[in-house]
Amino acid sequence: MLPKVRVVQWGLGSMGSGIVKLLLNKEGIELVGAIAHRDTKIGKDLGEVLGLEKKIGVIVSSESDPSQAWRGRDVDVLLHATCSTVKEAFPQIRKAIEDGLNVISSAEELAYPDAQNPERAKEIDRLAKKHGVSVLGTGINPGFVLDALIIMLTGVCFDVKRIEATRVNDLSPYGPTVLNSQGVGTTVEGFRDGVAKGTIVGHVGFRESIRMIADSLGWKLGKVEESREPIVTKVKRETPFVKVEPGMVAGCKQVGRGIIDGEERILLVHPQQIHPELEGVETGDYIKIEGTPPIDLRIEPEIAGGIGTIALMVNMIPAIMNAEPGIMTMASLPIPAALLGDVSTKIRRKG
Ligand SMILES: NC(=O)c1ccc[n+]([C@@H]2O[C@H](COP(=O)([O-])OP(=O)(O)OC[C@H]3O[C@@H](n4cnc5c(N)ncnc54)[C@H](OP(=O)(O)O)[C@@H]3O)[C@@H](O)[C@H]2O)c1
Repeated sequence: MLPKVRVVQWGLGSMGSGIVKLLLNKEGIELVGAIAHRDTKIGKDLGEVLGLEKKIGVIVSSESDPSQAWRGRDVDVLLHATCSTVKEAFPQIRKAIEDGLNVISSAEELAYPDAQNPERAKEIDRLAKKHGVSVLGTGINPGFVLDALIIMLTGVCFDVKRIEATRVNDLSPYGPTVLNSQGVGTTVEGFRDGVAKGTIVGHVGFRESIRMIADSLGWKLGKVEESREPIVTKVKRETPFVKVEPGMVAGCKQVGRGIIDGEERILLVHPQQIHPELEGVETGDYIKIEGTPPIDLRIEPEIAGGIGTIALMVNMIPAIMNAEPGIMTMASLPIPAALLGDVSTKIRRKG
Protein backbone atom coordinates (compact mmCIF):
# COMPACT_ATOMS: atom_id res chain seq x y z
CA MET A 1 0.00 0.00 0.00
CA LEU A 2 1.27 3.50 -0.83
CA PRO A 3 2.10 5.73 2.15
CA LYS A 4 -0.54 8.34 2.95
CA VAL A 5 0.28 12.03 2.51
CA ARG A 6 0.83 13.44 6.02
CA VAL A 7 -0.33 16.99 6.60
CA VAL A 8 -0.36 19.62 9.38
CA GLN A 9 -2.79 22.57 9.31
CA TRP A 10 -1.63 25.90 10.82
CA GLY A 11 -4.45 28.42 11.40
CA LEU A 12 -7.98 27.35 12.30
CA GLY A 13 -9.90 30.44 11.17
CA SER A 14 -12.36 30.40 8.26
CA MET A 15 -9.90 28.95 5.72
CA GLY A 16 -8.11 26.59 8.13
CA SER A 17 -11.27 25.00 9.48
CA GLY A 18 -12.63 24.56 5.95
CA ILE A 19 -9.34 22.96 4.88
CA VAL A 20 -9.46 20.50 7.79
CA LYS A 21 -13.04 19.46 6.93
CA LEU A 22 -12.06 18.92 3.29
CA LEU A 23 -8.94 16.93 4.24
CA LEU A 24 -10.97 14.62 6.47
CA ASN A 25 -12.94 13.52 3.39
CA LYS A 26 -9.91 12.83 1.19
CA GLU A 27 -8.61 9.33 0.60
CA GLY A 28 -4.84 8.87 0.97
CA ILE A 29 -4.30 11.94 3.19
CA GLU A 30 -3.78 11.88 6.93
CA LEU A 31 -4.10 15.02 9.03
CA VAL A 32 -1.56 14.48 11.81
CA GLY A 33 -1.37 17.89 13.49
CA ALA A 34 -2.96 21.32 13.84
CA ILE A 35 -1.80 24.66 15.21
CA ALA A 36 -4.04 27.50 16.41
CA HIS A 37 -3.54 31.07 17.50
CA ARG A 38 -6.39 31.29 20.01
CA ASP A 39 -5.85 29.88 23.53
CA THR A 40 -9.45 28.63 23.55
CA LYS A 41 -8.49 25.98 20.95
CA ILE A 42 -5.07 24.85 22.18
CA GLY A 43 -4.82 21.44 23.90
CA LYS A 44 -8.26 20.35 22.67
CA ASP A 45 -9.17 17.67 20.15
CA LEU A 46 -9.54 19.18 16.67
CA GLY A 47 -12.96 17.57 16.21
CA GLU A 48 -14.22 19.38 19.31
CA VAL A 49 -12.64 22.69 18.22
CA LEU A 50 -14.40 22.53 14.86
CA GLY A 51 -17.73 21.44 16.33
CA LEU A 52 -17.60 18.04 14.62
CA GLU A 53 -19.61 15.18 16.08
CA LYS A 54 -16.58 13.02 16.88
CA LYS A 55 -13.05 13.40 18.17
CA ILE A 56 -10.43 12.93 15.46
CA GLY A 57 -7.39 12.22 17.63
CA VAL A 58 -5.45 15.38 16.73
CA ILE A 59 -4.68 17.66 19.67
CA VAL A 60 -4.34 21.34 18.69
CA SER A 61 -0.83 22.76 19.30
CA SER A 62 0.18 26.30 20.19
CA GLU A 63 1.90 28.79 17.88
CA SER A 64 4.55 29.21 20.60
CA ASP A 65 5.93 25.72 19.80
CA PRO A 66 4.58 24.91 16.34
CA SER A 67 7.04 22.09 15.62
CA GLN A 68 5.25 20.08 18.31
CA ALA A 69 2.60 19.51 15.63
CA TRP A 70 5.02 17.81 13.23
CA ARG A 71 7.97 16.64 15.37
CA GLY A 72 8.65 12.90 14.88
CA ARG A 73 5.60 12.46 12.64
CA ASP A 74 7.20 12.35 9.20
CA VAL A 75 5.02 15.17 7.86
CA ASP A 76 5.00 15.95 4.11
CA VAL A 77 3.15 19.27 3.90
CA LEU A 78 2.28 22.23 6.12
CA LEU A 79 -0.91 24.01 5.07
CA HIS A 80 -0.68 27.57 6.40
CA ALA A 81 -3.63 30.00 6.70
CA THR A 82 -2.96 32.65 9.32
CA CYS A 83 -2.03 35.96 7.66
CA SER A 84 -1.61 37.99 4.46
CA THR A 85 1.93 39.35 4.36
CA VAL A 86 5.35 37.79 3.81
CA LYS A 87 6.60 39.67 6.88
CA GLU A 88 4.06 37.85 9.06
CA ALA A 89 4.24 34.51 7.28
CA PHE A 90 8.03 34.10 7.05
CA PRO A 91 8.77 33.53 10.76
CA GLN A 92 5.95 30.96 10.85
CA ILE A 93 6.87 28.93 7.78
CA ARG A 94 10.64 29.17 8.30
CA LYS A 95 10.79 26.46 11.00
CA ALA A 96 8.65 24.13 8.89
CA ILE A 97 10.96 24.57 5.89
CA GLU A 98 14.02 23.93 8.07
CA ASP A 99 12.35 20.79 9.40
CA GLY A 100 11.82 19.48 5.84
CA LEU A 101 8.12 20.25 5.26
CA ASN A 102 6.72 21.49 1.96
CA VAL A 103 4.50 24.54 2.53
CA ILE A 104 1.28 25.75 0.90
CA SER A 105 0.08 29.09 2.27
CA SER A 106 -2.94 31.32 1.69
CA ALA A 107 -0.90 34.45 2.55
CA GLU A 108 -1.62 36.76 -0.39
CA GLU A 109 1.91 38.16 -0.69
CA LEU A 110 3.36 34.63 -0.89
CA ALA A 111 1.50 34.13 -4.19
CA TYR A 112 4.41 36.02 -5.80
CA PRO A 113 6.77 37.08 -3.01
CA ASP A 114 9.28 38.61 -5.40
CA ALA A 115 6.77 41.40 -6.21
CA GLN A 116 7.05 43.25 -2.91
CA ASN A 117 9.55 41.25 -0.84
CA PRO A 118 12.41 40.30 -3.17
CA GLU A 119 14.99 39.86 -0.42
CA ARG A 120 12.70 37.65 1.63
CA ALA A 121 11.71 35.72 -1.49
CA LYS A 122 15.40 34.94 -2.13
CA GLU A 123 15.81 33.84 1.48
CA ILE A 124 12.77 31.51 1.32
CA ASP A 125 13.96 30.08 -1.99
CA ARG A 126 17.48 29.51 -0.60
CA LEU A 127 16.17 27.84 2.56
CA ALA A 128 13.71 25.67 0.64
CA LYS A 129 16.44 24.48 -1.75
CA LYS A 130 18.80 23.81 1.16
CA HIS A 131 16.20 21.61 2.87
CA GLY A 132 14.85 20.01 -0.32
CA VAL A 133 11.28 21.32 -0.04
CA SER A 134 8.92 23.53 -2.06
CA VAL A 135 6.83 26.55 -1.02
CA LEU A 136 3.66 27.85 -2.68
CA GLY A 137 1.27 30.74 -2.02
CA THR A 138 -2.19 30.17 -3.47
CA GLY A 139 -5.85 31.13 -3.15
CA ILE A 140 -8.71 32.38 -5.24
CA ASN A 141 -7.23 35.88 -5.60
CA PRO A 142 -4.30 36.21 -5.77
CA GLY A 143 -3.51 32.73 -7.00
CA PHE A 144 -6.26 31.97 -9.48
CA VAL A 145 -8.97 34.27 -10.92
CA LEU A 146 -6.96 37.43 -11.59
CA ASP A 147 -3.64 35.79 -12.49
CA ALA A 148 -3.27 32.01 -13.08
CA LEU A 149 -6.54 31.76 -15.04
CA ILE A 150 -5.60 34.79 -17.16
CA ILE A 151 -2.14 33.36 -17.87
CA MET A 152 -3.68 30.02 -18.86
CA LEU A 153 -6.08 31.76 -21.27
CA THR A 154 -3.19 33.51 -23.03
CA GLY A 155 -1.87 30.03 -23.86
CA VAL A 156 -4.16 29.97 -26.89
CA CYS A 157 -3.04 33.39 -28.20
CA PHE A 158 -0.52 34.22 -30.96
CA ASP A 159 0.01 37.58 -29.29
CA VAL A 160 -1.38 39.65 -26.42
CA LYS A 161 -1.67 43.45 -26.43
CA ARG A 162 -3.62 44.20 -23.28
CA ILE A 163 -5.45 42.45 -20.44
CA GLU A 164 -8.42 43.74 -18.50
CA ALA A 165 -10.00 41.64 -15.74
CA THR A 166 -12.66 42.36 -13.14
CA ARG A 167 -13.79 40.41 -10.11
CA VAL A 168 -17.10 41.66 -8.67
CA ASN A 169 -17.75 39.92 -5.38
CA ASP A 170 -19.97 39.89 -2.33
CA LEU A 171 -18.36 40.55 1.07
CA SER A 172 -21.49 39.61 3.06
CA PRO A 173 -20.21 36.16 4.20
CA TYR A 174 -17.04 37.61 5.73
CA GLY A 175 -16.28 38.51 9.35
CA PRO A 176 -15.09 41.71 10.98
CA THR A 177 -11.41 41.41 10.01
CA VAL A 178 -12.20 41.46 6.29
CA LEU A 179 -15.03 44.03 6.57
CA ASN A 180 -12.82 46.44 8.54
CA SER A 181 -9.94 46.05 6.12
CA GLN A 182 -12.34 47.03 3.29
CA GLY A 183 -13.77 50.03 5.18
CA VAL A 184 -17.33 48.63 5.25
CA GLY A 185 -19.53 50.68 7.62
CA THR A 186 -17.34 53.78 7.65
CA THR A 187 -18.21 57.27 6.43
CA VAL A 188 -16.63 58.43 3.18
CA GLU A 189 -14.24 60.67 5.16
CA GLY A 190 -13.45 57.77 7.51
CA PHE A 191 -12.71 55.58 4.47
CA ARG A 192 -10.31 58.11 2.94
CA ASP A 193 -8.62 58.63 6.29
CA GLY A 194 -8.27 54.84 6.75
CA VAL A 195 -6.72 54.44 3.30
CA ALA A 196 -4.26 57.27 4.02
CA LYS A 197 -3.30 55.77 7.40
CA GLY A 198 -3.09 52.23 6.02
CA THR A 199 -5.85 50.83 8.28
CA ILE A 200 -8.12 50.29 5.24
CA VAL A 201 -5.99 48.25 2.87
CA GLY A 202 -8.65 46.79 0.59
CA HIS A 203 -7.51 43.80 -1.44
CA VAL A 204 -3.97 42.49 -0.92
CA GLY A 205 -2.57 40.87 -4.04
CA PHE A 206 -2.77 43.13 -7.10
CA ARG A 207 0.98 43.69 -7.11
CA GLU A 208 1.54 39.93 -6.93
CA SER A 209 -1.03 39.12 -9.66
CA ILE A 210 0.25 41.82 -12.01
CA ARG A 211 3.89 40.70 -11.64
CA MET A 212 2.89 37.05 -12.15
CA ILE A 213 1.09 37.92 -15.39
CA ALA A 214 3.82 40.25 -16.67
CA ASP A 215 6.64 37.79 -15.92
CA SER A 216 4.72 34.91 -17.52
CA LEU A 217 4.29 36.93 -20.74
CA GLY A 218 7.86 38.25 -20.69
CA TRP A 219 6.59 41.82 -20.28
CA LYS A 220 9.00 44.09 -18.40
CA LEU A 221 6.82 45.68 -15.74
CA GLY A 222 7.63 49.38 -15.29
CA LYS A 223 5.39 50.13 -12.33
CA VAL A 224 2.14 49.17 -10.65
CA GLU A 225 -0.40 51.84 -9.74
CA GLU A 226 -3.21 51.15 -7.29
CA SER A 227 -6.26 53.12 -6.19
CA ARG A 228 -9.03 52.48 -3.66
CA GLU A 229 -12.41 54.23 -3.83
CA PRO A 230 -15.37 53.88 -1.46
CA ILE A 231 -18.54 52.17 -2.73
CA VAL A 232 -21.23 54.39 -1.20
CA THR A 233 -24.62 52.74 -0.68
CA LYS A 234 -27.98 54.30 -1.62
CA VAL A 235 -29.91 51.74 0.44
CA LYS A 236 -29.59 50.27 3.93
CA ARG A 237 -27.41 47.12 3.94
CA GLU A 238 -26.71 44.81 6.85
CA THR A 239 -24.77 41.64 7.80
CA PRO A 240 -24.40 39.95 11.23
CA PHE A 241 -21.31 42.13 11.77
CA VAL A 242 -22.15 45.53 10.31
CA LYS A 243 -25.04 47.92 9.57
CA VAL A 244 -24.56 50.39 6.74
CA GLU A 245 -26.97 53.33 6.34
CA PRO A 246 -27.51 55.13 3.00
CA GLY A 247 -24.62 57.50 2.29
CA MET A 248 -22.11 55.27 4.11
CA VAL A 249 -19.50 52.89 2.73
CA ALA A 250 -20.62 49.38 1.70
CA GLY A 251 -17.31 48.35 0.17
CA CYS A 252 -14.13 49.24 -1.68
CA LYS A 253 -13.47 49.45 -5.40
CA GLN A 254 -9.84 48.74 -5.99
CA VAL A 255 -8.04 49.19 -9.26
CA GLY A 256 -4.54 47.99 -10.17
CA ARG A 257 -2.68 49.04 -13.29
CA GLY A 258 0.43 47.38 -14.67
CA ILE A 259 2.43 49.85 -16.74
CA ILE A 260 4.61 48.29 -19.42
CA ASP A 261 6.65 50.44 -21.83
CA GLY A 262 4.75 53.50 -20.55
CA GLU A 263 1.35 51.98 -21.38
CA GLU A 264 -1.32 50.45 -19.16
CA ARG A 265 -1.32 46.87 -20.48
CA ILE A 266 -2.75 45.10 -17.42
CA LEU A 267 -5.86 46.50 -15.71
CA LEU A 268 -7.35 44.66 -12.73
CA VAL A 269 -10.59 45.91 -11.17
CA HIS A 270 -12.01 44.53 -7.93
CA PRO A 271 -15.16 46.09 -6.46
CA GLN A 272 -15.97 44.32 -3.18
CA GLN A 273 -19.10 45.18 -1.18
CA ILE A 274 -21.74 43.67 1.09
CA HIS A 275 -25.06 42.73 -0.51
CA PRO A 276 -24.32 44.04 -4.04
CA GLU A 277 -27.72 42.63 -5.17
CA LEU A 278 -29.52 45.35 -3.17
CA GLU A 279 -28.44 47.85 -5.81
CA GLY A 280 -28.83 45.46 -8.74
CA VAL A 281 -25.12 44.56 -8.97
CA GLU A 282 -24.48 40.96 -10.02
CA THR A 283 -21.28 39.24 -9.00
CA GLY A 284 -18.95 37.71 -11.55
CA ASP A 285 -15.43 37.20 -12.87
CA TYR A 286 -14.63 38.78 -16.23
CA ILE A 287 -11.44 38.45 -18.25
CA LYS A 288 -10.81 40.27 -21.54
CA ILE A 289 -7.66 39.60 -23.49
CA GLU A 290 -6.94 41.88 -26.43
CA GLY A 291 -4.91 39.63 -28.66
CA THR A 292 -5.09 37.06 -31.43
CA PRO A 293 -7.64 35.66 -30.94
CA PRO A 294 -9.42 38.10 -28.61
CA ILE A 295 -10.83 36.36 -25.52
CA ASP A 296 -13.84 37.43 -23.45
CA LEU A 297 -14.51 35.09 -20.52
CA ARG A 298 -17.47 35.69 -18.20
CA ILE A 299 -18.18 33.63 -15.09
CA GLU A 300 -21.42 34.49 -13.30
CA PRO A 301 -21.81 34.52 -10.35
CA GLU A 302 -18.26 35.02 -9.00
CA ILE A 303 -16.34 31.83 -8.19
CA ALA A 304 -16.96 31.44 -4.43
CA GLY A 305 -13.80 32.82 -2.81
CA GLY A 306 -13.79 30.79 0.40
CA ILE A 307 -14.56 27.45 -1.22
CA GLY A 308 -12.15 28.20 -4.05
CA THR A 309 -9.29 29.02 -1.69
CA ILE A 310 -9.87 25.96 0.51
CA ALA A 311 -10.02 23.74 -2.58
CA LEU A 312 -6.81 25.15 -4.09
CA MET A 313 -4.90 24.75 -0.80
CA VAL A 314 -5.75 21.04 -0.82
CA ASN A 315 -5.75 20.41 -4.58
CA MET A 316 -2.19 21.74 -4.94
CA ILE A 317 -0.76 19.16 -2.48
CA PRO A 318 0.47 16.69 -5.15
CA ALA A 319 1.92 19.51 -7.27
CA ILE A 320 3.96 20.93 -4.37
CA MET A 321 5.15 17.49 -3.25
CA ASN A 322 6.24 16.60 -6.79
CA ALA A 323 7.88 20.01 -7.46
CA GLU A 324 11.56 20.87 -7.56
CA PRO A 325 12.78 22.46 -4.29
CA GLY A 326 12.39 26.25 -3.97
CA ILE A 327 9.66 28.88 -4.27
CA MET A 328 6.90 27.91 -6.66
CA THR A 329 3.98 29.95 -7.98
CA MET A 330 0.66 29.07 -9.58
CA ALA A 331 2.36 29.95 -12.86
CA SER A 332 5.31 27.60 -12.37
CA LEU A 333 3.43 24.46 -11.27
CA PRO A 334 1.21 22.13 -13.33
CA ILE A 335 -2.32 23.50 -13.81
CA PRO A 336 -4.58 22.84 -10.81
CA ALA A 337 -7.17 20.07 -10.94
CA ALA A 338 -9.72 18.81 -8.44
CA LEU A 339 -8.10 16.20 -6.20
CA LEU A 340 -10.40 13.19 -6.58
CA GLY A 341 -9.72 9.59 -5.61
CA ASP A 342 -6.70 8.31 -3.69
CA VAL A 343 -4.26 11.22 -3.26
CA SER A 344 -1.29 8.95 -2.45
CA THR A 345 -1.33 7.62 -6.05
CA LYS A 346 -0.57 11.12 -7.35
CA ILE A 347 2.68 11.49 -5.40
CA ARG A 348 6.10 10.75 -6.88
CA ARG A 349 8.00 9.70 -3.75
CA LYS A 350 11.68 10.65 -3.96
CA GLY A 351 14.35 8.06 -3.20
N1 LIG B 1 -5.13 34.29 -1.62
C1 LIG B 1 -6.42 34.27 -1.39
O1 LIG B 1 -7.22 34.25 -2.31
C2 LIG B 1 -6.97 34.23 0.01
C3 LIG B 1 -8.28 33.79 0.20
C4 LIG B 1 -8.76 33.69 1.52
C5 LIG B 1 -7.95 34.08 2.59
N2 LIG B 1 -6.71 34.55 2.34
C6 LIG B 1 -5.85 34.96 3.46
O2 LIG B 1 -5.57 33.83 4.26
C7 LIG B 1 -5.50 34.20 5.63
C8 LIG B 1 -6.44 33.29 6.43
O3 LIG B 1 -7.78 33.57 6.05
P1 LIG B 1 -9.01 33.28 7.04
O4 LIG B 1 -10.23 33.66 6.33
O5 LIG B 1 -8.88 31.89 7.57
O6 LIG B 1 -8.71 34.30 8.22
P2 LIG B 1 -9.22 34.26 9.73
O7 LIG B 1 -10.50 33.53 9.85
O8 LIG B 1 -9.18 35.67 10.20
O9 LIG B 1 -8.09 33.37 10.49
C9 LIG B 1 -6.74 33.68 10.35
C10 LIG B 1 -6.00 33.64 11.71
O10 LIG B 1 -6.55 34.65 12.55
C11 LIG B 1 -6.91 34.07 13.79
N3 LIG B 1 -8.20 34.69 14.26
C12 LIG B 1 -9.38 34.68 13.60
N4 LIG B 1 -10.32 35.32 14.35
C13 LIG B 1 -9.69 35.73 15.49
C14 LIG B 1 -10.12 36.40 16.65
N5 LIG B 1 -11.38 36.81 16.80
N6 LIG B 1 -9.20 36.63 17.62
C15 LIG B 1 -7.92 36.22 17.48
N7 LIG B 1 -7.46 35.56 16.40
C16 LIG B 1 -8.33 35.32 15.43
C17 LIG B 1 -7.09 32.59 13.56
O11 LIG B 1 -6.74 31.96 14.79
P3 LIG B 1 -6.91 30.39 15.10
O12 LIG B 1 -5.73 29.74 14.45
O13 LIG B 1 -6.87 30.30 16.58
O14 LIG B 1 -8.20 29.96 14.49
C18 LIG B 1 -6.15 32.29 12.42
O15 LIG B 1 -4.88 31.87 12.88
C19 LIG B 1 -5.90 35.68 5.71
O16 LIG B 1 -4.78 36.50 5.84
C20 LIG B 1 -6.59 35.93 4.38
O17 LIG B 1 -6.46 37.27 3.96
C21 LIG B 1 -6.19 34.60 1.09
